[in-house]
Amino acid sequence: MTATRGARGRITRGTTGVNRLRRMDRWIAAHPALRHAADPLVVDLGYGASHRTPLELLERLRAVRADVRVVGIEIDPARVAAAAPFARDGLAFAVGGFEVPLAGDARPAVIRAANVLRQYDEAEVAEAWATMLARLQPGGLLLEGTCNEVGRVGSWVGLRAAGALGVEATGPETFTIALHLDSLAEAGGPSVVAERLPKALIHRNVPGERVHELLRALDAQWARHAPLATFSARQRWVAAVQGLRDAGWPVRDGVTRWRLGELTLPWAAVAPRDGALALEA
Ligand SMILES: C[S@@+](CC[C@H](N)C(=O)[O-])C[C@H]1O[C@@H](n2cnc3c(N)ncnc32)[C@H](O)[C@@H]1O
Repeated sequence: MTATRGARGRITRGTTGVNRLRRMDRWIAAHPALRHAADPLVVDLGYGASHRTPLELLERLRAVRADVRVVGIEIDPARVAAAAPFARDGLAFAVGGFEVPLAGDARPAVIRAANVLRQYDEAEVAEAWATMLARLQPGGLLLEGTCNEVGRVGSWVGLRAAGALGVEATGPETFTIALHLDSLAEAGGPSVVAERLPKALIHRNVPGERVHELLRALDAQWARHAPLATFSARQRWVAAVQGLRDAGWPVRDGVTRWRLGELTLPWAAVAPRDGALALEA
């Protein structure tokens, strides 16, 4: 396996799955960077061994932006050749890496890099983020994160490019956890996400770090609201998230998003305390 010359990054395992990234698709579909983009061009970077996730992304985003186009970019030329027959109106495939090459040097409104940096070192994250952010439209969104094989447990960082849509700084903006609620009690509660944190945070789930404090606080709220499980896991989760907010965590959004099993906070609430990823790209 050889990456094309000039592509930034390296070929890694191509594991993917049907419907695996639905929680990320749904979050992007609601995001102003897509909804209010002047040109809704979206990249699924590192789509893996199948064309499925870029196709699903296109279908979900079309429901909110009929004019969306998705380009699946993979660093493995063999995976691009395998996906090519599935190209269609609004969906193309191309070889490339973090430099996000696009015809005519077009700039995407959104880049989604799912389960890509997981196979890199923590020290490589900042440069990969900066390289992808530099390619976005002003106000654009980079979603970089991880999920489990079937997509029931996931988390991601939302990063923005400054210059439009009210975005003043380039860099990480939000951190989101997204969980399948009906299986959450059996999975052991919210901190099951510890194994599926983005590379920027997975080694930071240790005492003294903010993300560790968040997962402990979330688990405590989940335990506190256990009696609500009689009604539904959803009610229990919504109460737990509300409890986090009441305890002073700067939880974003409201019940509409929480009911989906989501929890979003500003990046500053979980950022590593040594400032390792406080990039200004
Ligand atoms: C584990 S798969 C993830 C597939 C899909 N995104 C998913 O989450 O189901 C990771 C893929 O990212 C690709 N990859 C790794 N580094 C990359 C880079 N710098 N640019 C583009 N693709 C990359 C790998 O070749 C691999 O196919």
